Amino acid sequence: MFPKTLIFATNNKHKVQEVQAMLGDTFILKTLDEMGFKDDIEETGGTFEENASIKSRHIYKYFKIDCFADDSGLEVDALNGEPGVYSARYSGTRDDETNLQLVLSKLGDSDNRQANFRSVISLIVNGEEHLFEGVVNGTIRHEKAGAAGFGYDPIFQPDGYAITFAEMSPEQKNTLSHRGKAIEKMVKFLKGERL
Ligand code: IMP
Repeated sequence: MFPKTLIFATNNKHKVQEVQAMLGDTFILKTLDEMGFKDDIEETGGTFEENASIKSRHIYKYFKIDCFADDSGLEVDALNGEPGVYSARYSGTRDDETNLQLVLSKLGDSDNRQANFRSVISLIVNGEEHLFEGVVNGTIRHEKAGAAGFGYDPIFQPDGYAITFAEMSPEQKNTLSHRGKAIEKMVKFLKGERL
């Protein structure tokens, strides 16, 4: 049964690297680019679950190949859960630095810096949808630190650590991250179902 082809409904190279590293050679991951899929799938949902489902269902309908999509983002307590589903375009642009600076300026010197990253994966196998969620709690730093990763990594410090996600190696981040946790659940499910 292995290796098995799975389409990851994304073109975000950082995410693909993170996920491929966790999957090893058990699954061959194909991105939308690699599948020659060029259309934009509009993420019109109000929750991570809805957006992940919109993407995976669209791709499954198109290719009829097992696939998964993730939707993820940063939720800051003092900002009532923002940027949430708008994480990728919080400032109106897709520029990571501008979005990160907007979170820092909205938060100002607020004492409540609690936040979490959340990731929801919608997996479709043989036409059936399965959802997996991963959450990592932490705090928002006052200033950026580190150069690794992407998005809000330089300002997010996971609980129990004194460094940000952007100061960690990809391997270390994967063991803690929201996406890492969600992927781990999905991989367990996939292996369990087929072994
Ligand atoms: P998505 O691609 O629609 O899931 O949007 C996710 C957005 O949330 C990204 O563009 C980032 O801004 C943010 N995000 C999600 N996961 C991470 C992460 O692991 N580190 C930093 N930012 C993240």
